[in-house]
Amino acid sequence: MAIHRPLLIGALGLCAVLAAPAAAMAAPGPSEAGGASHHSDSLRSLAANIGLRIGTAVNTDQLASNEAYRDITAAEFSTVTAENVMKWQLVEPTQGNYDWSAADRLVAFAEANHQLVRGHTLVWHNQLPDWLNAAAAQMSPDQLRAILHKHITDEVTHFKGKIWQWDVVNEAFNDDGTLRNSIWLQKLGPGYIADAFRWAHEADPKAKLFYNDYNIEFTGPKSNAVYSLVKDLQAQGVPIDGVGFQTHLDTQYPLPDLQNNLQRFADLGLEVAETEVDVRTSLPVTPTAQSAQVAAYSQTLQACMAVRQCISYTVWGFSDADSWVPGVFRGEGAADIYDENLQPKPQYFALKQDLALGKGAPHRTGQGVGRN
Ligand code: XIL
Repeated sequence: MAIHRPLLIGALGLCAVLAAPAAAMAAPGPSEAGGASHHSDSLRSLAANIGLRIGTAVNTDQLASNEAYRDITAAEFSTVTAENVMKWQLVEPTQGNYDWSAADRLVAFAEANHQLVRGHTLVWHNQLPDWLNAAAAQMSPDQLRAILHKHITDEVTHFKGKIWQWDVVNEAFNDDGTLRNSIWLQKLGPGYIADAFRWAHEADPKAKLFYNDYNIEFTGPKSNAVYSLVKDLQAQGVPIDGVGFQTHLDTQYPLPDLQNNLQRFADLGLEVAETEVDVRTSLPVTPTAQSAQVAAYSQTLQACMAVRQCISYTVWGFSDADSWVPGVFRGEGAADIYDENLQPKPQYFALKQDLALGKGAPHRTGQGVGRN
């Protein structure tokens, strides 16, 4: 990560953030197109100026209990993603007994604040319910297919009309470009991916359907494999609308050539999105590492802004207080744009500056719910 970007931030920017409207949750204003209810200097207002949606993954426990967290979520972002509460393990903890309550509260919050919702995620190898993990190996392919079909149909139907983009299939590939040896591949074969998109489309024909993965920001075996997959799905007439690039970055690795990679997928006639951006580093953070983090946030946003079909840029949580990183990557953290006290970091100001400077960015497609 050789790039060092000058930080044009000052006290003015900080004051503007701290003054962001706390009332955004209680008193929703006009639609995002107008953006009038939000501070004109918020991420969401600046993004709206260029037709881009800016989002965050939401920790619904924080949303329920922490007013400052709630205020920032409402004031700064125009889309939300459930960090966990739409995953199979959470929505169907025992077979046949759905619990949509936490996800419903997030959707209601989004509606009250004129935010769109990214649905995450329908088919994954992680965070499956215990009852399914325990039983899957003994099931026949037909039984497992019926369970997957029902899961997709029930979840997409429950949220019908309320989800802008669904991450239909998440992380189906290994880094070498082979398909991941999940229960889905083992029992159902590679066709489970096309089936999942078809079933989701049947349940909500207007939702945008995405394939989502990590380490596909780079060109290489994995992103090439996803590229072949989506081309193949398109050739078969499978209803796929876009590809989500998770974009979990680390300052110890080179920055991906994201813009060109996004563009080649867009050139297939797909929409693209950065869906889970964060930039972790070894703790404690050095000034050099933080400059690299700032540069990485800036470059990922600029890549999206430069590609007309890049319709949303979403961070995987906005605050270091509740980031998934320290629990998964030993010794690393500080991956988000706000610190542990919910104060904006230089990363936040870099995003703002890029959005503000991006007024001439190409017009985006696909800003409403449903296909355009
Ligand atoms: C993570 C959540 O952030 C954690 O809270 C949870 O314990 C595990 O999952 N890729 C994804 C996300 O698609 O669903 C993951 O979210 C992070 C990596």
